[in-house]
Amino acid sequence: MALKNFEGAVAVITGGASGIGLATTQLLHARGAHVVLADINQQGLQRAEEQLRLSNSEATGNISSIPTDVTNEQQVQALMRKATEIHGRINLVVTSAGVGNGGPIDLFTSAQMQTMMNINFMGTYHCVQAALPTMRQQQSGHFVLLSSVAGKLGAPLLTGYCASKWAVRGFSIALRAELHGTGIGVTTVYPAWVETPMIHQEEDAMQLLNVQALLTADQVAAEILQAVTEDRRDLTLAPNHDIAIILQIMKEDPDKAEQLSGEAFRQGMAKIAAQQRG
Ligand SMILES: NC(=O)c1ccc[n+]([C@@H]2O[C@H](COP(=O)([O-])OP(=O)(O)OC[C@H]3O[C@@H](n4cnc5c(N)ncnc54)[C@H](O)[C@@H]3O)[C@@H](O)[C@H]2O)c1
Repeated sequence: MALKNFEGAVAVITGGASGIGLATTQLLHARGAHVVLADINQQGLQRAEEQLRLSNSEATGNISSIPTDVTNEQQVQALMRKATEIHGRINLVVTSAGVGNGGPIDLFTSAQMQTMMNINFMGTYHCVQAALPTMRQQQSGHFVLLSSVAGKLGAPLLTGYCASKWAVRGFSIALRAELHGTGIGVTTVYPAWVETPMIHQEEDAMQLLNVQALLTADQVAAEILQAVTEDRRDLTLAPNHDIAIILQIMKEDPDKAEQLSGEAFRQGMAKIAAQQRG
């Protein structure tokens, strides 16, 4: 059964200190949910909590924040245990903890690749595994798993990020099938570029990728809550003609999509090289 109303619901949000996680937390709290924020960034968590208390002063839901590294299975187990101890249930888990860096595959180290997979994919898996016992007991609950449009296509310079987001996609599709009929839902979110600190982390790489924010975190948060109430399997947010077209071609003719993407990349590189030559 889809979660239709967030009043009194208990939501655990990873990556809750920033960007999409923070915006989703704010909206959930404004709609009456009890929110449990988890993030590796302790100062960010404190700031987020203060911001929530100020901006949602009328809201009735509790706010807790629990510093958590999602790559650490024990910490994630402790997070979900704590949320269950405090509130007696978990209605919603949003896995928004993530990192997004890129670069040429020749220079993308094994350590970078491992970190990417550990945070973006293993972190998601840890959260699902740790929250499932509570949800199974309730025979209800909902997971919102953040993938990306990069989980539906292949982007040059984003091999690691794409791999981690395709992993989230495959995991969530199998999970939704496995949980069919249990009362536990799964929504996977595939946004294009969103205006958050993530897209400003590595200005050089982002310039190479020609990143242009197309969505705000508040827009994504509103879409997420709507998708949860409708128990949607797939929330793809690509309000840009080129991305929408490439996603469509990827479905119909992946060879062509890869070729177009590769050609656009080579042309972009040639343009940058020409500019640098003056
Ligand atoms: N911003 C975009 O353009 C975009 C597009 C598509 C998908 N996404 C995905 O949305 C999610 C949220 O991204 P965002 O844009 O809000 O980024 P963000 O950088 O604003 O927030 C990510 C949060 O995750 C936290 N985090 C990082 N590693 C962690 C760890 N090991 N344990 C716990 N927390 C950790 C960070 O401290 C940060 O607060 C990510 O999974 C990202 O890949 C983002």
